Amino acid sequence: MTVIEVEDLFKSYGSVDAVRGVSFRVEEGEVFALLGPNGAGKTTTLEILEGHRRRSGGQVRVLGSDPQHGGRALRERVGIVLQSAGIDGELSVHEVLSLYAGCYPAALPVDELIAMVGLADKRGARAKTLSGGQRRRLDLALALVGDPDLIFLDEPTTGFDPAARHGAWELIRSLRGLGRTIVLTSHYMDEVQQLADRAIVLAAGRIVAEGPPEALGNAGAQETSICFGLPAGLWIDALPQDLRVIARPRRGALELRTVQPTPVLLGLCAWAVQGGIELSHLTVSGPSLEEVYLQLTSEDDNGRG
Ligand SMILES: Nc1ncnc2c1ncn2[C@@H]1O[C@H](COP(=O)(O)OP(=O)(O)O)[C@@H](O)[C@H]1O
Ligand SMILES: [Mg+2]
Repeated sequence: MTVIEVEDLFKSYGSVDAVRGVSFRVEEGEVFALLGPNGAGKTTTLEILEGHRRRSGGQVRVLGSDPQHGGRALRERVGIVLQSAGIDGELSVHEVLSLYAGCYPAALPVDELIAMVGLADKRGARAKTLSGGQRRRLDLALALVGDPDLIFLDEPTTGFDPAARHGAWELIRSLRGLGRTIVLTSHYMDEVQQLADRAIVLAAGRIVAEGPPEALGNAGAQETSICFGLPAGLWIDALPQDLRVIARPRRGALELRTVQPTPVLLGLCAWAVQGGIELSHLTVSGPSLEEVYLQLTSEDDNGRG
């Protein structure tokens, strides 16, 4: 079942075009990620899906309704973690959650929820005394309190320490295991690789890549990086001509970037063996999602499309 359908979505704030013709679908039970740098249009898109913001153009269906007119029935099936939620800092964790639980017909038991997000030892602590990561976990609990079918998470782990981050990932995976549909935004590559079934990469309001996270690595030019060190006294000009032209210094060593790694590696190794030269710290690596992402977004900055 398709849970979300977005067709040619546009949103402008006055003269700022924040979202410029974005289309995608999210199926039931998927973890779907909107990936991109600050200002890419992730929060704007999410807020439109949540019904918190009016679009300027395009079609949007969320659980079969237009979120702009979704009303309470839709809202009860949707859980939301805002990028920054406003809650009363004087209330305790348990009080805040109980307050929100009262708004839903089928709310989860509050203490169960507190344990789920790892805040059991903060049950009685006032919200304003929580650390950034603990506060984010409270936000997550608020999103889950109504036992929603569809969960929106805007940068769910920003500000988390590594342990809290892994805890949140576990929680998101367990929600997926329960068949919930999750749409999250992130600017962390590894987070999207860890969690998402599919992702779109947004840059300046447009989709610049989409697919399963591992396939996003195929979206850009497939350059392999070959790195190595040379003995003292040898540098780029010692290399054979065809390697010299593609060699670049990198962190005290040399890097060859190529879309044809096999002949380049053969040429390098043949040259080294013939000369009795040991290549130190030789590594061969494909493009990381991070590199692909930087490449895609910088292409867009250069006015592509
Ligand atoms: N309420 C607003 N009023 C005017 N411009 C906004 C508003 N919210 C966001 N923008 C602009 O829209 C663009 C997209 O922002 P946003 O959706 O928050 O991106 P992201 O979440 O990817 O960082 C940015 O250029 C931002 O400055
Ligand atoms: Mg944002």
